[in-house]
Amino acid sequence: MKTRSAFGQHTLGREYFVSDDIFKAEHERIFFRSWLLAGHVSQLEQPGSYFLFEIERESVIVLRDSAGEIRAFHNHCRHRGSKLCRQASGTLGATIQCSYHAWTYGLDGALRAVPTMSEVAGFDVAEHPLHRVALTNWEGFLFVNLAQQPAPLAEAMPGLAGRFRAWPTAELRAVQRNVYEVDANWKLIFHNFSECYHCPLAHPHLNKLTPFRNSENDLDEGPVLGGPMWMANPQGSMTTGGERCAAPFAALSEEQRARVYYYSLSPSGFLSFHPDYVMMHRAQPLSRDRTRVVCEWYFHPDAIAAPGFDPRPAIEFWDLTNRQDWELCANAHRGVTSRAWEPGPYSELESQLAAFDRQYLRALGNDAIGTRRTG
Ligand code: FES
Ligand SMILES: [Fe+2]
Repeated sequence: MKTRSAFGQHTLGREYFVSDDIFKAEHERIFFRSWLLAGHVSQLEQPGSYFLFEIERESVIVLRDSAGEIRAFHNHCRHRGSKLCRQASGTLGATIQCSYHAWTYGLDGALRAVPTMSEVAGFDVAEHPLHRVALTNWEGFLFVNLAQQPAPLAEAMPGLAGRFRAWPTAELRAVQRNVYEVDANWKLIFHNFSECYHCPLAHPHLNKLTPFRNSENDLDEGPVLGGPMWMANPQGSMTTGGERCAAPFAALSEEQRARVYYYSLSPSGFLSFHPDYVMMHRAQPLSRDRTRVVCEWYFHPDAIAAPGFDPRPAIEFWDLTNRQDWELCANAHRGVTSRAWEPGPYSELESQLAAFDRQYLRALGNDAIGTRRTG
């Protein structure tokens, strides 16, 4: 498949890594207007199950209500703003009670009990439900959008539509979650994920399984970017021994079983589809210079229940690769924040980084694409 060229594009300038104004603008124009990968339905198995999704000052409760519906709300009380849920995840009863003055909300967000407010003329509980946050369940992955009335996910991320049906992603369960904090700007994590130019030197173990030129991009413009790499061993998977940890997903074609598919979902994470498991990375900026990455490994419940199931080869393989990558990102961050840094030229193996930058700059409302600084 023909891949769009990097067209002589250069990397982003230093200001995109050091400017507080740009970091703030990224939140206002990108993170608070985009569909963000927040979690997976398997985290909400029972009515009352919830987890928090937090970014910058925003905290969102993602929960399953008593009727089984998944909903998202801003995690603050409509009285005087107190944070309602404080633990990262857990199980709620039939209601959420604020710990400050006991205002109490249903899991549908409606305000139910309000001590003493009946004394206040004109007060109407119906006017004070929890603030809703837009949520979409895409094939089991939960996305939230902090915009008031965002375009539907299918419109905003058309690249996702129908592409991964052969992987039963809604049925999967995470067997492992690793949380990393990386001393690098969030965009460098995306850049690093989007090319295998660095693989021969940085990941000899990975490069053996998928030689770095064994790749093509089937999505090369927009917020979802990526494509497959084919494995040297078509019966294998990306694991320490190169063997699969489980039988391949039943609906995969022969071709899909021999490949691993990597996609970045700008601006919040990556999904990697293997023949026997799916991996999710969620990337979250903590500051200009620091990014939290949550990595989870998802397998089918039948595989997990099978005698002798051992996901460690998949976990250890990617944990090692992740750590190698974070070191590269931190090291690049040191250079691109130097006063002497000038944007460098992308290679043809970095067309996805060029596409990520174009998408990023469009979303930011800035068309100064990777131009070489002359002054
Ligand atoms: S702040 Fe929640 S009840 Fe007062
Ligand atoms: Fe890497």
